[in-house]
Amino acid sequence: MQPRKIAIANQKGGVGKTATALGLASAVSAKGGKVLVVDADSQGNATNGLGVTVEGDMLTTYHLMNQTVEGGAANAVIATDWGGVDLIPADEELGKIESDGSNDLVFRLDVAFEGLDLSPYDVVLFDCPPSLGKVLFAVLIACDGVVAVTEPTIDSVHGVERLDETIRTVRKRANPRLNFDKIVLSRRRGTAEHNFRETELREVYGDLVARTIIPELATRQDAHSARTPIHQFRGGRAISLQTAYSDLFAELSLTTGGAS
Ligand SMILES: Nc1ncnc2c1ncn2[C@@H]1O[C@H](COP(=O)(O)OP(=O)(O)OP(=O)(O)O)[C@@H](O)[C@H]1O
Ligand SMILES: [Mg+2]
Repeated sequence: MQPRKIAIANQKGGVGKTATALGLASAVSAKGGKVLVVDADSQGNATNGLGVTVEGDMLTTYHLMNQTVEGGAANAVIATDWGGVDLIPADEELGKIESDGSNDLVFRLDVAFEGLDLSPYDVVLFDCPPSLGKVLFAVLIACDGVVAVTEPTIDSVHGVERLDETIRTVRKRANPRLNFDKIVLSRRRGTAEHNFRETELREVYGDLVARTIIPELATRQDAHSARTPIHQFRGGRAISLQTAYSDLFAELSLTTGGAS
């Protein structure tokens, strides 16, 4: 069975997309599973967080988008030090894609994954950039589902509305199989504003909002700086985060066709 390809997205910056992608990868790894992370952000935060530095003739997401090669993604996959977690890395070169005028640009990631046997993986997670640019469209055209990550603040809630419109457009015009899987509340603190925005989101989006919430805990940043899977990290509030990401992975049902 081929795994689902999931975009971890929100064009709003700093909401916890990369932390969620790597937290889910850590949860899969802790269960003895296998995951492919595709870094689709020129900041390369997922790449760095997995302990990888792009160097030499390493192929990156930029190379997959700079050519039209069916199945070409296979050549860019590398193993990481996180057990069971493979990566297609990215670095700042990916930023060049936004000014590339090629007609087929937004289809190239889809082409790069065409015909590949990804069955060893439980899921493929794309860490998306904080923009509604060509790279994001390319990811949405290549993927089966979207998990929107948002903080419970007014700007982020508006960001989800924009993303929802974008998903509808891509589904109608280019990729009918694209499913809006879930909205994940991340970096949640117990403030009155966060409570209010969470209630608002649940009223508007109902069951699309995940029951599992990722709390704001400094340990998340410590684990990221140490380039360590949160499920291997000791100290601080690591256990709360391990539980949150494992529960989220289970709730998302990413390996079985989407959240219920
Ligand atoms: N649950 C959390 N608790 C505390 N800090 C967090 C949490 N999740 C993410 N962070 C921190 O918040 C910052 C932004 O998170 P992250 O990089 O995951 O967001 P992003 O949406 O991927 O950002 P960008 O849009 O720039 O790609 C980082 O410093 C990260 O370590
Ligand atoms: Mg990021």
